[in-house]
Amino acid sequence: MYAPQVDLEQDIARLKKELNAVILAHYYQDSEIQDLADFVGDSLALAQAAAKTEADVIVFCGVHFMAETAKILNPTRQVLLPDLDAGCSLADRCPPAAFKAFKSRYPDHFVVTYVNSSAAVKAMSDVIVTSSNAEKIVRRIPADRKILFAPDQHLGRHVMKQTGRDMVLWPGSCMVHEIFSEKKLLQLKVQHPEAEVVAHPECEQRVLQHADFVGSTKALLEHVLKSPKRQFIVVTEVGILHQMKKGAPDKEFIAAPPDSGCACNECPHMKLNSMEKLHRCMRDRRPELLLTPDLQAAARVPLERMLEWS
Ligand code: 13P
Ligand code: SF4
Repeated sequence: MYAPQVDLEQDIARLKKELNAVILAHYYQDSEIQDLADFVGDSLALAQAAAKTEADVIVFCGVHFMAETAKILNPTRQVLLPDLDAGCSLADRCPPAAFKAFKSRYPDHFVVTYVNSSAAVKAMSDVIVTSSNAEKIVRRIPADRKILFAPDQHLGRHVMKQTGRDMVLWPGSCMVHEIFSEKKLLQLKVQHPEAEVVAHPECEQRVLQHADFVGSTKALLEHVLKSPKRQFIVVTEVGILHQMKKGAPDKEFIAAPPDSGCACNECPHMKLNSMEKLHRCMRDRRPELLLTPDLQAAARVPLERMLEWS
């Protein structure tokens, strides 16, 4: 338990200097974590920031696969995570052995893997993509190559639609984005006819078809900041609303509701991190993200190809 007199923010700042650390946070983190991070971004921007940092320690406020990516791209840094159990339904439901068996059915396919995957699955892939660059990277693959896309079938379908490329899809999905309610979204649109609908491509097609703009978290943020519209229905994890409100305090952001009793949609994995756990991991220098050198080397090849092609 934490003594009430500990000023977490102040002590995190002290520990950051002591460790020569950089704090990276995803847009789905609690607002207080976003506010004290050195850098807040989507998964591509965070991977790029991790790859180039010269800090001795990377404190990764996100989920496990993001911290793995940081370690693979910058292996000499110590990577700390506030909660090692912060997983991701996409990565967790694509086990390496099952993926290997699936891939063996398509031996001549170019394997494009979403960054929301384990290091072991990345190591079996030809190139990694994020929601920011998936379309661009798929367009670079020669037209005569067949493509296998894993593990997010909804992002895969969206990319197929955008590029006109046919792809074999691993049947994975994000537990947060797949439960947005089409019916409630349509009701919201009726209530707010002037609002622009922006959505993450991990949502199902039946939801995406009602969106005016589809993009990664960073693309959604940039879009709402520059759009002349004043009101937005945001169909992604609710954490992104913090930066939207900060960047455009005069605009209105309405979180789209899931198909449950809740008013908005939170990622339970991302929300495992807290200020207390962030402080504790810096104080104790653990949990630390560790990978075997062989796995790091194998997963680095498709990840570096992604950075090169982005
Ligand atoms: P971004 O690439 O938009 O950061 O998405 C990551 C993620 O986990 C979305 O659910
Ligand atoms: Fe994974 Fe979905 Fe959470 Fe993103 S929102 S980390 S894809 S479970």
